[in-house]
Amino acid sequence: MNTNPLTPEVLSVLERLSTINRGFFTFEEGMKLFEEASLAMAGGSGYAIEVGSYCGTSTAFLGFAAKATDGFVVSVDHHLGSEENGPSWESFDQSLYDRERSTINTLSRFRSLIYSLSLDEYVAPITASTRVATNFLRDRADFIFIDGGHGEEVAFNDYFSYAPLVRRGGVLAIHDVFEDPTKGGRPPFEIYTRAVTSEQFTHVTNLGSLYFLRRR
Ligand SMILES: C[S@@+](CC[C@H](N)C(=O)[O-])C[C@H]1O[C@@H](n2cnc3c(N)ncnc32)[C@H](O)[C@@H]1O
Repeated sequence: MNTNPLTPEVLSVLERLSTINRGFFTFEEGMKLFEEASLAMAGGSGYAIEVGSYCGTSTAFLGFAAKATDGFVVSVDHHLGSEENGPSWESFDQSLYDRERSTINTLSRFRSLIYSLSLDEYVAPITASTRVATNFLRDRADFIFIDGGHGEEVAFNDYFSYAPLVRRGGVLAIHDVFEDPTKGGRPPFEIYTRAVTSEQFTHVTNLGSLYFLRRR
């Protein structure tokens, strides 16, 4: 592993990110993601995939895991937002809205963040839907983080497309897994359940709704 890239200056930027980017991903979750991704990447080829970049909060933590292990992370998002990022939802961010296209557009905010953290050499953005990206992402990854659309069809499509790409002994992470249906939507919990009942994955650990599974 390289020297720890999480200097006090970097940590203080990362601490503020969740607030800047509307709190989809907390600092504590980010640190856990960094830790688990660093371990998995150090034990393999140093390759991670993220599904659902949004404005780059989680990507930044994965980018630093890549930097710590001399690896790289591919981050997939069409950057048009999920249904829950739309104007009628509470997580809507007016400043990301593209009036001409009547859609949100997170690409520019994402690129600025990765550039400002000097992570360009470690983060490869793919601006495409999951369906398109998985047509050419074929190599096995050490670590895959699923945090894309949370609707049933999109979440299951992400699971079926990306879970087979986790190498043996590698880690699949899923965000927004809520056992209690009053705390959040079902699809992330359902894909987590699908993974453990498939007998291809075993539960490793979790921090709140951020779950980690190891590929057998
Ligand atoms: C919950 S946000 C991701 C949050 C992000 N991980 C963070 O740390 O803030 C979900 C993202 O998934 C993307 N998304 C939804 N459906 C998608 C699809 N079918 N293909 C690619 N990206 C998709 C959206 O554009 C949105 O940016």
